[in-house]
Amino acid sequence: MKVAFAKPGLPGSGIVVVGATEGAKLLPSAVKLDKRSGGAIMRAIRASRFKGEKNQSLNVMAPAGTRIDRILIVGFGKPADVDELGLQKLGGQIYASTRRAKKGTVAIAVDAITGAKPAAAAMAAEIAFGARLASYRFDKYRTKEKETAKPSLRTMNFHVANFAAARRANGALGKLLDGVFLTRDLVSEPANMLYPDSLAKQAKSLEKLGVKVEVMGEARLRSLGAGALLAVGQGSARESKMVVMRWMGAPRGGAKSKAKGKSKGKAAAPIAFIGKGVTFDSGGISIKPSAGMEDMKWDMGGAGVVIGLIKALAGRKAKVDVIGVVGLVENMPSGTAQRPGDVVTSMSGQTIEVANTDAEGRLVLGDLLWYCKERFKPKMMINLATLTGAIIVALGNEQAGLFSNNDKLAQYITEAGKKVGEPVWRMPLGDAYDKMINSDIADIKNVGGRGGGSITAAQFLKRFVDKTPWAHIDIAGVTWSKRDTPTVPKGGTGFGVRLLDRLVADRYES
Ligand code: BES
Ligand code: MN
Ligand code: ZN
Repeated sequence: MKVAFAKPGLPGSGIVVVGATEGAKLLPSAVKLDKRSGGAIMRAIRASRFKGEKNQSLNVMAPAGTRIDRILIVGFGKPADVDELGLQKLGGQIYASTRRAKKGTVAIAVDAITGAKPAAAAMAAEIAFGARLASYRFDKYRTKEKETAKPSLRTMNFHVANFAAARRANGALGKLLDGVFLTRDLVSEPANMLYPDSLAKQAKSLEKLGVKVEVMGEARLRSLGAGALLAVGQGSARESKMVVMRWMGAPRGGAKSKAKGKSKGKAAAPIAFIGKGVTFDSGGISIKPSAGMEDMKWDMGGAGVVIGLIKALAGRKAKVDVIGVVGLVENMPSGTAQRPGDVVTSMSGQTIEVANTDAEGRLVLGDLLWYCKERFKPKMMINLATLTGAIIVALGNEQAGLFSNNDKLAQYITEAGKKVGEPVWRMPLGDAYDKMINSDIADIKNVGGRGGGSITAAQFLKRFVDKTPWAHIDIAGVTWSKRDTPTVPKGGTGFGVRLLDRLVADRYES
């Protein structure tokens, strides 16, 4: 589905969308249309419960004396309450109501609203963004879907005074959308199609956006001493990989920055994002029950977010130096698989007793975090992982779990999450939890006791980050959705891409 922006003026036919604010106060375009249709809009409103509230809408079918098929009146609510998220949701709702539009187009009038914070152009771009988020489909493996079952809406035409500004804002949001869609695509792919090598190739394709991408195979990982990551993949027929992506977008010091008194050309420390990329998690020898195991195709969700995020940042040429590191492995049972009770040596030198081969994500991340911190000395690092079922027990599918050794970083992430509608909830860390992963035979054990499963997993990661400001976002509950919401169709959500893009924009771009 495409979106387009043009000057005000609604077509005389097809589906047209106009707005009203609270108290069923029609916006200017709606007033015009009401006149043109001989008062059909006001008559319909009086005959209904429509009050112009947020999330309310009303259809007027084939108003007499016009060639219009349908007028869709949507509520914006109180002008002072009009915000980015509400507009995106509205866009999603308009999409849901018009996706089967017979003629393939719909016209939407976006008028300035007195007393609302966003200008009309920004409003149009946010509504369009919401509609585009809602229009996502992963249908490449459906060969028999009937044409009539597919959405027919091709183009949403927005009519707004400052359409050039709307077009520009839409273009910027389009880069973010590309990142979200890539993440959704990756998470949706089945594990016979998406495995370490093919996922690494997806990351490699970001090179055309100016991202530097290094793919390391098992030989290289062995020489780096990544014994924990390698142990997870050793039962698989697929070779394990680590991928390092670098987007170096921070302004380089030249004559100008010298004048400002900055040291010449010496770049500040980068920020880093690290992702768990278990392309399939069978549990290994500690094998999972078969019911629901198919969900473990999306156990690479953390890596999917990191790759999608780097795509978004590079796409919009973010002024920041960013490192993305993903560990790609398949956790399988076989004659070569690691066994419960094995002791492995991580890159950090710490030895790990693998009490349960299904607690594999932390083994992968331990090596990634250590590698990232040693090589890049980042100013902060954030890892994302579908790490524990326990976080779903704690927070359900509504919020991701946030763990951090740094209050400021935790606060920044929490704020960014609220702004974009990807909320995170901070969970505790502490010495008492840390003790639970002491091993009798090695330095660390990869599982804690019965309780606090998502916390002991985070404590495990913390042993690989030292003093670097760090946050771990456990996205096990939010990476996949079983039901549609206005801007997130069921399936892969892309949760994390919008959040981290906003975090970078608000806090780390120069
Ligand atoms: N990938 C799973 C966690 C998970 C569960 C993600 C459900 C998404 C949905 C992880 O590798 C795992 O198996 N964790 C175990 C840890 C346990 C063995 C200590 C779990 O949560 O049961
Ligand atoms: Mn597991
Ligand atoms: Zn896993």
